[in-house]
This record gives sequence, C-alpha cells and structure tokens, in this order.
Amino acid sequence: MNANSRPERRALADFNEEDSNTSGNPSLMEILDARLSRRGLLRGTLGTAGAALLGSFSVAACGGGDGSATTDGPGAGSPITLGFTPIPKSLSDAVSVPAGYTATVLYALGDPLTSSTPDYRNDGTDTAFESRAGDHHDGMEYFGLNAAGTARDAAGSERAVLAVNHEAITDQFLHANGTTANPRPAAQADKEIAAHGLSFVEVRKTAGKFAYQKDSPYNRRVTPLTPAVIQGPARGHALLKTRYSPAGTDTRGTINNCGTGITPWGTFLTGEENWAGYFFRNSTDNAARGGSTARSVVALNRYGRAQGAASRHGWETAGADDRYARWNISQTGASSDGTDDYRNELNGFGYIVEVDPYDKTQAPRKRTALGRFAHESAIFGLRVPGKPLAAYMGDDSRGEYIYKFVSAASWDAADANATDRLATGDKYLDRGRLYVAKFSADGTGTWVELSIANSAIAGYATYAFADQADVLVNTRLAADAVGATRMDRPEWSAVHPVTGEIYYTLTNNSNRKVEPTGSSHVALDAANPRAYTDAPGNSSPGNVNGHIIRIKESGGESAATGFTWDIYLFGAEAGMDPAKVNLSSLTADQDFSSPDGLWFSPKTGLAFIQTDDGAYTDVTNCMMLVGRPGHVGDGATQTLNYTKTDGSTLSVTTRVGAKPTAATLGRFLVGPGDCEITGITETPDGKAIFVNIQHPGESVSKAGIGTPSAWLSHWPGNAGYGAGGTNARPRSATLVITRDNGGLIAADGTAVLNSF
Ligand code: FEO
Ligand code: CA
Ligand code: CA
Ligand code: CA
Repeated sequence: MNANSRPERRALADFNEEDSNTSGNPSLMEILDARLSRRGLLRGTLGTAGAALLGSFSVAACGGGDGSATTDGPGAGSPITLGFTPIPKSLSDAVSVPAGYTATVLYALGDPLTSSTPDYRNDGTDTAFESRAGDHHDGMEYFGLNAAGTARDAAGSERAVLAVNHEAITDQFLHANGTTANPRPAAQADKEIAAHGLSFVEVRKTAGKFAYQKDSPYNRRVTPLTPAVIQGPARGHALLKTRYSPAGTDTRGTINNCGTGITPWGTFLTGEENWAGYFFRNSTDNAARGGSTARSVVALNRYGRAQGAASRHGWETAGADDRYARWNISQTGASSDGTDDYRNELNGFGYIVEVDPYDKTQAPRKRTALGRFAHESAIFGLRVPGKPLAAYMGDDSRGEYIYKFVSAASWDAADANATDRLATGDKYLDRGRLYVAKFSADGTGTWVELSIANSAIAGYATYAFADQADVLVNTRLAADAVGATRMDRPEWSAVHPVTGEIYYTLTNNSNRKVEPTGSSHVALDAANPRAYTDAPGNSSPGNVNGHIIRIKESGGESAATGFTWDIYLFGAEAGMDPAKVNLSSLTADQDFSSPDGLWFSPKTGLAFIQTDDGAYTDVTNCMMLVGRPGHVGDGATQTLNYTKTDGSTLSVTTRVGAKPTAATLGRFLVGPGDCEITGITETPDGKAIFVNIQHPGESVSKAGIGTPSAWLSHWPGNAGYGAGGTNARPRSATLVITRDNGGLIAADGTAVLNSF
C-alpha cells in the first residue's frame, strides 16, 4: 500500500478542522493548573465555583498518595501546555519528531549485553541471543540507579536499568536465508526462543547523552526457558502440574510480553499476551481428554487452542529434548494428573509476571491472583496509605474484557522503599479480589467480582469451576459467566497521575457489527458504539480505528464497585464523517488509528498515545500523539444512527469526551515503515523519554528475504545505526528522545507534578 493509491483520502485529510468543544467549561487541567500554581488550594482555601469540581477529586489526587508526594505537593509555576509543533503524517522509512527534539537509537535487536558477545552482524548469522537484545521491543519501564550504580534510586535520572519486553520476532530476518519449515532445525528454534522474553539493560547518561552499557552487572535476559515461579492462589494447583513441575509450583519462562507496569516498590510487571499460539495441539486431543465437553477441552477452546491448532513457530518439532517437547500440549502421557506430559503447560502462561530489575538472582514470579488472559499492562491506581491498591488490566482479543485487581493488603507507604521487593510483591499481589467491568448505557458501570462464591460462576453450565484457583486460571470463562461487557480489544491502561481516572485503549474490532451474525460478532453498545466501513474499504467493517475509554471510580476509591465512564477519544481519519466516525472531530494534526500503547508522564500529566495500525497505514506509518486530557463527563452524549438491512434504524447513544483542540492534542512522532510504536517511559526529571519502535519491515516472506529492495524498511541501518546501511535488515529498537533546549518532553510550563 502507498499514499498514491488513495489520493482522495489525502485530499479529505485536511478538510475537517472544526473545533467542536462547545462546553464552555474550563478543562480539568486548567483547573488543576490553577491549583498546581497556587498551593493554597491544597490547604482548602478555595471558595469559588471551582471548589465543587475540585471536591469531586479523590484526596489522593491532591498531591499523590504514596507518602512521597503528599508533603512536597505539586511544583509552583506556569501551567503545563503542549510544548511542540505537531508533525504531519508520514510514510518515510524514518523516525520523525517535532522541531527542537532529537530522537536517537539507543538499543536495538541483537545488541550485545556483554563485552564478550560479538557485535551484531545483522545478516542472519548471529547467535547467542541469551546475551543480546531480543526482538520486537514492546512495553518498557525505567528503574533508577544511584550515581555509583550500586543501588536503586527511584529519582535517579542519569543511570538506570531499562526493562524491555521482547514480544515476538520477525523470524525471517533472524536467519540468513529465512526460516526452514517443520521439522524446525534446532539451531533456528533455539535462536527464535531466545529472541523472545525480557531484557534488562543498564543505560547511563554521559556528557549529556544516554548510552546502554555492554558490561553492566544489571544486564540480564529472561527468555521462555528461564525458570519462573508460580505464585498466588493457583500455586501447586492440579491445573499447573507438568512433567517439568509435578508439584505445579514452577514453569519455564515468559512469552509474548506486551504491556508493562511498575510497582510502587520498584519492580517490573510484564503481561503475557498472545501466548496460546505458540503451543501445538494434535487433531485427536479432545478424545484423549475425555471428549469435547471435558473441562480441559472447554478451557483450551476458550483460550484459542482448539484441537489441531498449529503452533506459531513449530518449536515442538525441533527435537525430542524437553525444551522443545513442552510446546506440544496434547495429552500424550498415561498419568491421570498430567505429570508425565505437557497437557497443562498452557496454564503456566497468561499472567502478569513480576521481576526484580535490580536482582538478577531472583526468578520471575507469575502472579496468578491477577487472572489469566491475554494480558497487556497492569497499572496501579493512585495510592492512598491505609487503602488497598488497585491494578487495572485489559485482555487484548476481540470482544474481551477489562479487569481490576484489588489487593487484600492496605498500602503502607514504607513499602515503597522495601529492600525485599519480591516479598513485597507477595504481600500485595498474591491475595486480593479480581473484578471484571460491566458498562451501562447511562454512563455508569460496575466491577463484578470473579469469585467462586458468586452463584453465576459456581453454577456456570458451560464450565464447572473446581475452586477459586480455577476461577483465576480460567478467568475468561468466569467473566463470561457474570455477563461482563465485551470490549473492542482492550490494550493498555493508564492512570492519570492527578485525577486518578483510568484510561484504556480499545484498539479496533472487526467483529463489532450493526447486525451480528455469529457468536464471534458483537452488537453495538454505548461503550463500543461504532461499526463502519473504512472508505475506500481496505479492512473489515467494524470499529476500524478504535477508541480510548476512561473510568472514574466511585468516590475515587480503589476498591469501588461502581464507576462512571466516557470516551476520551475516538480514532478516525480526519476526513471521516463527524456524525458517524470522527466523533472526536480530529484534525489532520491529530488523526490516528488503532491506539495501543498508552502512558501518562508522572512529571507532566500529559498522555502519550501510541498506535499499532493496519487501517490508516496507506496514508501514514504508525505514530505517537501527546494529549492533555480533561476528565470523565467533560463532553456530551451523541447518538449514532445506523440503517439496518431491513431499512429500520438502530440508534446507539454514547458519551464523547470534550473534543480535542490544537492546544490539547497533537502528533509528536511518526515511525519508520511497517512498524508499531509501543512502549514508553521517562527519566524522573522528565528530560528524556524512551520509546520503542517495534517490528519495522515485518511484512516479509521467506521468498522475499533475498530481495532487500522490496523490504518495507531498512531502519535503523538506513539512519546509520549498526551494520547494513541503506540495505540493512530492519531491527526493532529503543529510542531516547530529548529536547534540544534541555527542557521537559512535549511540555512547556513548569508546574510539574512531583514524584507521583
Ligand atoms: Fe501486544 Fe495487544 O498488543
Ligand atoms: Ca500492544
Ligand atoms: Ca496491538
Ligand atoms: Ca484506512
């Protein structure tokens, strides 16, 4: 695809410049800015009309709730505004950022993590990925170090461990002549397996520039073969017993790690997303397990592994060794409990996994209390001493759900500096309640607890849950049982550092239909109100461009079971109809499709929105926008009218947040060809952000591997990074972005938030 194939869309792109914000109310950030610049407001001296609005914020919103922020309060000074000139959409095989900013490649696929590992040749002959950067950089978090590099310093802005997810691989580029079909050569499988997982890499600022450190003692790879521990209610459960761990307490590694999170005590959380596809089930496995209604068969089907399902890379064919055998999850053994095969291996994946980035001697811990699904990020709500912690999570598949975990333990601010960080994780993340979201048309919603004590779950006809651990391992089935709201593919969540409102990207959903015709189709509802054809059509009708929903907990409480919601932004091409598709009236400087990565800068409170798109890529490569959102309820309701095939009208009323203006949303970055923008974190001083470019040029076939001129990207080799030059194989990579004047990223003003 290229732009010239769609000249009519390019002409329309500049058409709709309407600013439809008619509310007349000050935005939340304006109110907050006023408060941030007048500390007296924090002491309750506000006696104006603004008090009612401020009064609706939680106490924690007034300066942060983890103890470190409450006394400092926000900084004084001029309000935060967007500090960049938006950039245009682009199809260039390059990274674009606004004037006055510089993006530099920091850490790319294959970069050595030890001094003894050879430089990356990038010609498919490299090996030893256990000591190199993995592929498909995704979610990422920053863990500060002190100046000497000897200990954690949460405020360290010059030295840190970056934790990076390596979600998947562009397998053809990992081998000199592309992949070899099944049975896979062991050497190819070994390389592909090791290029997945996580990396921990030290970065250091020297003479004003960040570089990664090849020889740091913090450098570490976690791969799909690294020993990992099952924690929480499912530890030792019958569902987790395997040949590798007959006790059901351990598994190996983590895979398809997508979104991330950072705990208040300084550990890394990584979500296992599309893990199911890596595993093979033979075509007679249902019978081996007792037939199509057997509990394990119902569960496997619900998680996308029907019998006969081929595996993504065929690693189970690479040899008899156990490290290959574990990818075949067919019931092949004679045991009654699965301790002689890998029939239960799939149950060891699909979790939020906690890793201590400062201590590589500690095994990753899989937190089963947070449920098992296609996890994206896990983001904590505002922390209030004495109250439980809440972590917000999404399940990224069409029509899946939004979840929240509420800890049994109440937050003790002293734990922010705990020295046994994983034991602190045990305290907050191994016991608690898991909830799923139900959205109502009136703008409210409820969190429904997934408990075996709920008769809808205990008596569920489709699947007989054995106990609460079974509810957690088979979370999707439990959420089905309670009638949770099917969403348009929940990707990342993010929590506004001042309001505490929770934002979720809903990336797109080709199964959202005006007139659903099969069980995979989902009817329109107020929270997922759009189904349309991408004109001129090049993708399936449905919610083509995605949206961002946001939630305000009742009373601002982490443990609330009720909330209100609206839609912060609807993705759309700027030229599309504002009555049906471009509901947020996005202009050419703001339009986007398929929001995915989402993050709030704790320093500035600005929202960073990253895209993983296929619908608008005929016009632009994927991108990152920066926004200054308001709050739930700052917009208006809007009714969408659809004409059904019988001529009747279907009306859906949704809640559209205040429409963005040039002052509140703009495009900040566009990536190279055929990439996704995903993963973002920053230094505590807010003067550098780190952003990942994932899978540039991934659309390459085995046949195409010998024709570099046909590849869709040569980045970052074409930008002078590493071997290969303008003919280089493309590589996923981490960027560091700084401002040429040394200021905050994407923001002007000084009223920054201190240490959220
Ligand atoms: Fe890995 Fe849902 O994106
Ligand atoms: Ca994603
Ligand atoms: Ca995505
Ligand atoms: Ca399109």
